[in-house]
Amino acid sequence: MNASLGAPTSLKSRLKQAMQARPAIWGRYWRAKQELKRLAMLRYFLHDIRHTYRFMFWPWAQREAWALSAELLFQYHKLEKGLVMPGTPRLFGLEPAASVMNLLDRWVRANLPRQDQVFLGAIETLRCYLARINERQLDPRQVIAPQLAQFLQRFDDVPAQAHLSTPYQPALPAEVSEDLLGTTFDALANVRRSVRDFKPDPVSSDVLAHAVSLAQLSPSACNRQPCAVILVDDPKKRKQLLDLQNGNKGFGHLAPHIAVITADERGFFDASERHEPYIDGGLFAMSLILALRAHGVGSCCLNWCVPPALDKAAHEVLGLHPARRIIMLIAVGYPQENGVVARSPRRSTSDILTHI
Ligand SMILES: Cc1cc2nc3c(=O)[nH]c(=O)nc-3n(C[C@H](O)[C@H](O)[C@H](O)COP(=O)(O)O)c2cc1C
Repeated sequence: MNASLGAPTSLKSRLKQAMQARPAIWGRYWRAKQELKRLAMLRYFLHDIRHTYRFMFWPWAQREAWALSAELLFQYHKLEKGLVMPGTPRLFGLEPAASVMNLLDRWVRANLPRQDQVFLGAIETLRCYLARINERQLDPRQVIAPQLAQFLQRFDDVPAQAHLSTPYQPALPAEVSEDLLGTTFDALANVRRSVRDFKPDPVSSDVLAHAVSLAQLSPSACNRQPCAVILVDDPKKRKQLLDLQNGNKGFGHLAPHIAVITADERGFFDASERHEPYIDGGLFAMSLILALRAHGVGSCCLNWCVPPALDKAAHEVLGLHPARRIIMLIAVGYPQENGVVARSPRRSTSDILTHI
């Protein structure tokens, strides 16, 4: 065989050639190879199981501040819901109210900050709950009201927080009508497109922080707000991260910021919630990219479909706690003047919308 013609000479290549010459053997070999590849995918599931087992179980995470604040949010959100529920007034929320008192106790014993919005929101909600019970005389047998009143006395030094109280009626600013809101949102949704060509100019920290604060208004399961953002501005770290991701070739390096969207697994109580980090993370990311666009900043989501080893490497680059799942990266920056984008046509709405 003439090696100069590029013919395969290694043992492996010769074996492969020999098998290709026998279709039955080649077919079996090919199928076995695909099955092995499929088996190798199990490592992704093992990685998920390990994470779910390790971090998504509140009884084991009791001492962690993040899990405590998630549980506090989770429990007092049940009271918030009771406070806005339509229907006949009745005594509600006995269990969550007891849990909130217990968690606030733990908060105080752990010396966690008393200016924290989660802590203040819990106290304010308990106050609203007690006020509702008293106003509507929901507790004639005094099952919870006296105990709650006594508990709240411990927080008499905490001023009333009208902006954290429930219920309230959300209202548009005077200058924004419902019509304007509709047309503005339509325009925003239509004009946002994935940007893959950026100016080198950095986006100001104020604009970025404002967009993140808007993304924080996204819904999350029981308002536990597991999402957080790391903005990577440092060119070396940006490159290290982008090198681990497979969808940014040719443009990722142009973005002056890479946002890493994370969701903390410790915010979830058990394996039934194992998908919540991705759901909450997706909603958060959507709000963030719309908010950025509304303020003139372009973005492109970058998938985080990486094998566990690369995920671990990214955690090391970022110094990130392993419970903080990376949901996706987002390339962020100002679009080039007169920049172009992919059309990315959508399916017709009638194909995806069904009324039952
Ligand atoms: C979760 C997710 C991951 C994505 N990953 C990539 C990526 O790795 N590289 C890329 O160029 N675009 C990526 N995109 C952008 C999509 O290609 C884009 O959103 C889609 O084609 C629709 O186009 P539009 O965003 O311009 O409306 C991603 C989008 C999402 C939501």
